[in-house]
Amino acid sequence: MHRKALTAVFVIAAGVLLAACAPNATQSALEPAGDNAEKANTLFVPVFWVAVAIFVIVEGALLFFAVRYRHRKGRDTIPPQVHGNTRLEIAWTILPAVILAGVAVPTVATIFELARDPGPGALEVTVLGHQWWWEFDYPEEGVNVPNELHVPTGRPVLLTMCAVGVGYENQPAPSECEAEGRVTTLGNSVLHSFWAPELFGTQDVFPTYARTLTFAADEPGVYEGQCKEFCGLSHAYMRFVVVAHSPAEFDQWVADQQRPAGSLEGAAAEGLRVFLEAGPAGCTQCHSVNGLEDANGEMIRGSIDAPNLSHFASRDCFAGCIFENTDENLRRWLADPPAMKPGSWMPDYNLTSEEIDRLIAFLNTLK
Ligand code: CUA
Repeated sequence: MHRKALTAVFVIAAGVLLAACAPNATQSALEPAGDNAEKANTLFVPVFWVAVAIFVIVEGALLFFAVRYRHRKGRDTIPPQVHGNTRLEIAWTILPAVILAGVAVPTVATIFELARDPGPGALEVTVLGHQWWWEFDYPEEGVNVPNELHVPTGRPVLLTMCAVGVGYENQPAPSECEAEGRVTTLGNSVLHSFWAPELFGTQDVFPTYARTLTFAADEPGVYEGQCKEFCGLSHAYMRFVVVAHSPAEFDQWVADQQRPAGSLEGAAAEGLRVFLEAGPAGCTQCHSVNGLEDANGEMIRGSIDAPNLSHFASRDCFAGCIFENTDENLRRWLADPPAMKPGSWMPDYNLTSEEIDRLIAFLNTLK
């Protein structure tokens, strides 16, 4: 019985381990697709093999001596006692120090290289870590999107990153982390960490000061990323994608994002009304849609920071990038957001299924 239980544990453990080898698991730092990840990998590989060599030598010696000098019948219980060997001790103090110093040289060089200023040609993006979604603001281009970081290939991207939040005493976040021209606030902000393994190493994202990260993508493609620092209930749902375009396609994407969003006819116009009036304060208490204005012609902007929904229909995922952008998923999400994403700041407005249909029709026009 004992053996059966052990076998079961072994089989399950082996299954879990093998699952990590799934061919479609994309978030691998060992398959770099950009200069930042490439440099980290170039450092990792030799350091790894040095560590393997040391492991084999040390463990090999350990096993050898354990077997060779194990207790046998007829031997003394206490082996002959040796007290110190100056030469050996000097050797095994100096040797590890030399190895560590050797590893430190490329390590420090890589740290400085990764921290280098990319120069004036870089695309600047402000990255804000919210509970629990990422906001990407392009100050030069006047574009603001959640969950999807769009970049051109072959051009350095300079990210300036802060953790931001709402509520409590709303002190302003560092001035480098303003977005859409608005002052962002600290509020309930917590530590996050930004990581798309194929493109760059992790960078912790702090509330009180801005950090930067530079990377470039070699090839067009979609690279998955996620928050790598526990940041509360839906930490595991704090995902994002980096979408790398050819430079021409990127320019087109920017132009598309800069257009005013949506045309409002039929079901969409009904949906807009739900959007403005649902629940106690409408969806616009938190969400913005570029082009939506109040009676005074001022852009309607929520008092609480939530994803900007302009061009929502052009995005592939939503809600911290945990859902593919389909009507079916939208319906599930709108019916009860906190049930889909624990701790979500988006409340359940108890929308009727008719209201949800109208909202979806409206959202689908935001191309
Ligand atoms: Cu943000 Cu974990």
